Formats: sequence, structure tokens, C-alpha cells
Amino acid sequence: MTTNDRKVRLLAIESSCDETAAAVVENGRTVLSSVISTQIPIHTLYGGVVPEIASRKHMERINQVVEKALSDASMKLSEVDGVAVTYGPGLVGALLVGVAEAKALAWAADKPLIGVHHIEGHIAANYIEHPDLEPPFLCLVVSGGHTHLVIVQDYDRFELIGGTRDDAAGEAFDKVARAIGLGYPGGPKIDKCAREGNPDAIGFPRAKVAGSPYDFSFSGLKSAVLNYLNHEKMQGHAIVQADVAASFQKAVVEVLTDHAVRAAQAYGFDRICMAGGVAANSCLRKTMQEACEKHHLGFCYPSPILCTDNAAMIGAAGYYEFIRGHRSGWDLNASPNLKLGQR
Ligand code: KG4
Ligand code: ZN
Repeated sequence: MTTNDRKVRLLAIESSCDETAAAVVENGRTVLSSVISTQIPIHTLYGGVVPEIASRKHMERINQVVEKALSDASMKLSEVDGVAVTYGPGLVGALLVGVAEAKALAWAADKPLIGVHHIEGHIAANYIEHPDLEPPFLCLVVSGGHTHLVIVQDYDRFELIGGTRDDAAGEAFDKVARAIGLGYPGGPKIDKCAREGNPDAIGFPRAKVAGSPYDFSFSGLKSAVLNYLNHEKMQGHAIVQADVAASFQKAVVEVLTDHAVRAAQAYGFDRICMAGGVAANSCLRKTMQEACEKHHLGFCYPSPILCTDNAAMIGAAGYYEFIRGHRSGWDLNASPNLKLGQR
């Protein structure tokens, strides 16, 4: 199928973690509607995502979210060209709700079903925001569960050149936020709190992984923060939350920026893209922007609402799967540990 004569409109569904989301996306680039029902206030009560509660809330909300996405786009299910859905990676019970919904809708309306990799979706958020962007490019993917440096060779071909050996960047933000009493979700809270702090107040380590120039490790940094907090407490010193937040954030951001810029230079890319929830971080965006300018690299990133989990990005990635003829069977299942580029 070509896109020259006909518009392809996909209904997309995302439920891999704590956002129940649906969207209608045209030709992978134009968002006709995007509905996100967040569960953050519920999980905040427990200090993090509780998988069983996430599944239950997805079940309660998914029909309404899908209906609203269709009505906001002024479309009926019978008018879409297919149903795209995140089938991994993520929380198995949460993924299952979206996959079951997508299968039921696609079956009932006799539409093609397209299973989409969640990280492929995050990367594709850049296509929505930057209409001229085409692969190949280098992408720094930083979310709650993933930290990867990815060469996006084509819309459906990816090469991982670096990843985290332990905690993901977002996980480190969430854990440090909890330790300094900011609560869940940690990333946005640290981002905000750090604006009032001194990023050079505390010299936290910038970890390198020996022999793997593009890999990351954040667990040592997290331990360094915990040690610092214990040490200060034992000395009877008050903790300056904003200074800890700013110094921790600077340590993460410097490592992410350094790796991404070195990788772009080593692999000969003239541009870096970012994706995932942590890509919404204001310090990371500013620092990357400055580093890219200094090294004459282009830099693109989605707006914050397209960085964190949403279904529009799944509709964008699903489109490129769709026009390549990729279809999922009715046996599509949730795949909690799905690898990038695997289908
Ligand atoms: O991509 P995402 O919504 O879900 C996953 O696929 O994991 O990313 C969520 C992660 C959380 O760890 C959250 O704390 C982090 O992204 N995050 C941020 C910011 N906004 C969200 N981290 C740093 N600064 C932010 N502004
Ligand atoms: Zn995500």
C-alpha cells in the first residue's frame, strides 16, 4: 500500500505501565486524537507502580479511553485502517489489557492488528514532532525501564550500541527522589526541585563501564546518594534537598550527554534524537542542546507529553510496520521482555 493516494489512519492503544492511552494517528505523523488516562495519583499512594492495581485500572478505563480517542478524531472504528497496540516490553498484566482490547476491536471490525514494541514507539514520537525526520539517526532512549543508545537504521531496524548494566535512568531518578523524600514519580519532582539547587554542591560519581564506551551504570550513583544522605544524617547535618536533586541530576545528565555525543561522532551521525520519559527532563534537554551545538550536531526531541507514555507514538511506529506489511496474528500475546527489533 502506498500513502500517496490514501491516508492510513490507525487506532493505537498503549497500556504497558501506568498510563491507559489510545490515539488515532494519520500516516504515522499526524495525531488526530490522543487520550491519556494516567494512574499516577493512585500509585503515588504506594510510592511506585503496583502491577496488580495498574492492570485493574487499565481494565476499568480502556473502553472509555478508546471511545474518546475515536470520538475526538471524529471517527468510527469501522473507518480506521488497523489497530496498533503495545505488546511489550512492560508489565505483563498491564500489557495484556491493551492487547486483549486491540484484538477484540480488530476482530470485531475486521481490521488488521499490528503489535508494536514500546521502545520503537518512544523513538517514533520523534516522527510526529519532526515531520522531516527520517532514519538513519542515533537515538538516546531514556525511560523508567530502559536506557539505550540506539542506531535507528530504518523505521523497523535498530542496532543497540549501548545500554545500562543495572538501573535505567528513570529508575535512578525515581529511587533517588524517594530517598530524599520527594515521592513518586521521581523524575518530574527532581527536575522541578533541582531548579532551586546548586548542581555543583555535591560531587557525585560519573560511572564509566570499562571496555564498553557506550554502556551506562547508575546503581553506583544511586548508592553514592544514599551514602551521602546517611553520612550527613549521622553528622547531624540538615539535607538540602534541592542541592542533592541538582547534583544527582547533573551527574546523570552529564553521562547521558557525553555518551550520546561520543557515539554520534564515532558512528558519523550529524544528529541525535532523544526519546522516553527522562527525555522530558529540562536539564537533559538544555545540556544536550548545548553539547550538540558545540559539536555541530542536530538535536531533536519530542514535546514532554510525547516523551512519557502515550498511544500516539504507538500509532506512529505502527504505521511504519503497517506499510511494510507487518501484521500480528490473533495469537498476539503480551511479551514483557520483548527485545528491540524482535518480532
Ligand atoms: O517513558 P516513560 O513514561 O515510561 C517507561 O516506559 O518507563 O518513563 C517514565 C520515567 C519515570 O522514571 C519518570 O520518573 C521519568 O520517566 N521522567 C522524568 C521526567 N519525566 C518523567 N525523569 C526526569 N525528568 C523528568 N522531567
Ligand atoms: Zn515508556
